[in-house]
Amino acid sequence: MLVTKNMCNLIKDSNFVLREYEEKKKELNAKLVCYVEENIFPRYKRYYGHGLTHIKDVINKCLLLGEYYSLDKNMCYVMAAYHDIGLNVDCDNHEKESGKILFSDANLKTYFDEEQIQIMKEAVEDHRGSRKERPRNFYGEVLSDSDRDFDVALLARRQLGVSLKNYPSLKTFEEHFERSYNYILENKNHISLWTNNEILNKRLEQFKKEFLDKEFARSVYKKEYEKIFREGIVDKILHYYEDF
Ligand SMILES: [Fe+2]
Ligand SMILES: [Fe+2]
Repeated sequence: MLVTKNMCNLIKDSNFVLREYEEKKKELNAKLVCYVEENIFPRYKRYYGHGLTHIKDVINKCLLLGEYYSLDKNMCYVMAAYHDIGLNVDCDNHEKESGKILFSDANLKTYFDEEQIQIMKEAVEDHRGSRKERPRNFYGEVLSDSDRDFDVALLARRQLGVSLKNYPSLKTFEEHFERSYNYILENKNHISLWTNNEILNKRLEQFKKEFLDKEFARSVYKKEYEKIFREGIVDKILHYYEDF
């Protein structure tokens, strides 16, 4: 299956995520959003795979699940916005560092009480997908599930970034695609969702179906690859971003 013009509208890529975020944030506390956008988002500037596309994608999914389960949407927003912020302190233990930053942010105390801050801190600390133990609270389950890639285009974007930076011996699109594709093929069946949410499960099934159609996946990866070169993103991947 090749990517046609009509299908491009259906593919959830970076632009789709950013537009969806702009819509969803209208339902939140405007002052809180302003604080996060001015003070927290700039701290993701040096990240590509964990940059604002990823953060806003996780926010969008947390808000979706938050609505489904009637959770506090401002809490969903904050935990997602802070969840990877500790990467620039200690990459391997970034969940703990992100939790510390959230917990010690005095400004958040004007919006949330102590119990809410504790819940968000634990959720952030427990978000890593490879973690074997169930997150300590339900917000943690929501955050961990939202941190997964459910879209081929977003996965392609992240994987190609890693590939271009860490595998300089690979020279062509085909080589980068084959490495990335096989890596996911070996790991795709290990994804399970703590919430077992029906909407996310459907998206996961759809993702697996699309990904297994290798020609389709190749078309999507190719489009992302061309964008990385056309827009000069490759120079930033090699010399500026810090998250690989
Ligand atoms: Fe993370
Ligand atoms: Fe993340």
